[in-house]
Parts: sequence; C-alpha cells; structure tokens
Amino acid sequence: MSEHSTMTKTTPMQVILATLGGLLTPGLVIFMIVMRSIGIAHSHINYVNPALANRMVMARIKPVAELKVVDLSAAKVEMTGQQVFQAVCTACHSVGALGSPKFGDKAAWAPHIAKGYPTLVQHALNGFKKMPARGGDPSLDNLEVERAVAYMADAGGANFKAPDSATAPVK
Ligand code: HEC
Repeated sequence: MSEHSTMTKTTPMQVILATLGGLLTPGLVIFMIVMRSIGIAHSHINYVNPALANRMVMARIKPVAELKVVDLSAAKVEMTGQQVFQAVCTACHSVGALGSPKFGDKAAWAPHIAKGYPTLVQHALNGFKKMPARGGDPSLDNLEVERAVAYMADAGGANFKAPDSATAPVK
C-alpha cells in the first residue's frame, strides 16, 4: 500500500466550500472597508445639497481667526432710553440699589423729578452722590443718557421729553 492511498480524496463539494471560505473572509473585509468610507464621506459631505456641502467644506477649511472689518466712520447707532436702561441703569434702578429711586416707583421719583430734567441729566452725566457718572458706562454718549433719564423719570411720573439730539455739552 502506498502513502497516497491513505489520503482521503477531496470531493468537489469540499473544493467549493474551501473556495467560498477563502473568498468570503477577504470579501467581507473589503465590503466593510467600502461601507465605512461611504459612511465617512456621507457624514462629511452632503452630495445631495451642493450649497450645504459647500458650506460644510468652507466651515472646515476656514481660518481659525476671522478678521472683522469695523468701519469706524460708520455712525454710532444711538440706543433708545429703554435700551440704555435695560443695558446699564437697570442694575441699580430696577431694585433700588444704593438708595437709587426704583424704576416705576412714583413716590421715590417725585423728589428727583422736582429738580427738573436739566438737573437730572447733569447728575446722570456727571454723577451725583452714589449715582455714578453715566451709570458707570462711559461708552454711553450724552444723548443716550438724556434719553434714559427721560425714560426712567417718565416711568416714575414725570412727563419729560427726550431730545432727538444731544442737548447737554459733550464732556
Ligand atoms: C451703580 C448704581 C447705579 C446705576 C448703574 C445707575 N444709577 Fe442712577 N442713581 C443711583 C443712585 C444711588 C441714585 C440716588 C442718588 C441720590 O439722590 O442719592 C441715583 C439717582 C439717579 C437719578 C436722580 C438724580 C437726582 O439728581 O436726583 C437719575 C436721573 C439717575 N440716577 C439716572 C440714571 C441713569 C440714566 C442710569 C443709566 C445710564 C443710572 N442712573 C444708572 C445709582 C445708579
């Protein structure tokens, strides 16, 4: 008996299975790699919407720091009295902090209003006792302070009219 005769004969079925098995594993790996890259591409670029895709690309390649061009010659947008109040004066006058006349409190405002609008404006601009000049915000211009004084005093019972342009001399 020769050695050959002890080896079992490979059946066609085994050949088919071995071939399939050999192809299946690398095929699966390739399939997964392809799916993965499609997934990544999809999460990065929206091919369906070119405008969106463009924006996404621009967002990714835009420089870290952006240069904001500020036109210094552009006219400053004056805040209304209400806006100034909400931005600055409210800090004290909404709660009556430091003994300030509380917004809308007519009894508290009456003795202040009695001084007259020009005096109140001067006090608001330059400071008065614990009331800081311009409410502590030097970036407010005269007109804005004047408007805020009228806004607050009127809410406290006065009938002042805020000027359209600054009346007090610029300090
Ligand atoms: C840090 C707190 C504080 C802020 C902020 C503040 N005020 Fe006053 N304000 C006071 C105090 C305190 C008084 C009361 C002064 C007094 O009569 O003793 C006062 C009083 C006033 C008076 C009455 C002055 C007078 O002569 O009777 C006016 C008008 C006024 N504030 C306007 C403003 C305006 C306008 C703003 C915002 C731009 C502002 N205040 C922001 C604290 C503040």
